[in-house]
Amino acid sequence: MTKFLLTLHVLAAIVAVGPVTVAASMFPPAARRVQVDADEPDTAGIGTVRLLHRICRVYSGIGLAVPLLGFATAAAMGVLGDGWLTTSMALTAAAAGVLVAFVLPRQEELLGELTEHRAVERSGTVRLAMFTGIFNLLWATVTVLMIVRPGSTTGA
Ligand code: HEM
Repeated sequence: MTKFLLTLHVLAAIVAVGPVTVAASMFPPAARRVQVDADEPDTAGIGTVRLLHRICRVYSGIGLAVPLLGFATAAAMGVLGDGWLTTSMALTAAAAGVLVAFVLPRQEELLGELTEHRAVERSGTVRLAMFTGIFNLLWATVTVLMIVRPGSTTGA
């Protein structure tokens, strides 16, 4: 049962967190590339930005399965109180917080501006890129913790 839950947990991380990482990283340069012209709207460019935002929104919802399956795996293994896991949970919560509070709303704002044919400020896409970087760094740290498990006496 533990192996089954762990497999689902890792699969969920790959399938859900992977696309969010790629799409969120592509969003700021894609938004910057859109040509703003009300007479001749860059529909392809705006379409790309909209799709990238949709991937981030939908797959971050699916990504909820990662901590849920993580909890189930940890409970089955009896490691819920381990320090490395508590740290991972805090970092996962921080990553989710950055995504929900900064990355997704800022993407939505930029998409709104582009849809109304307003030029986006460079500082806006730079700030978004910074928050996206923080999100990526946080969950990458969690992945390292999941594999190294400092202080754990179970497994390799
Ligand atoms: C609340 C958050 C989380 C909890 C409670 C949790 C729990 C766990 C547990 C108990 C294991 C088994 C470790 C072992 O074999 O001893 C595990 C493995 C793993 N987790 Fe998580 N996890 C969480 C979040 C994440 C996130 C955000 C990612 C990546 C995006 C992730 C990726 C992995 C990977 C790749 C493994 C396999 C490590 C290995 O077996 O070498 N986990 N997780």
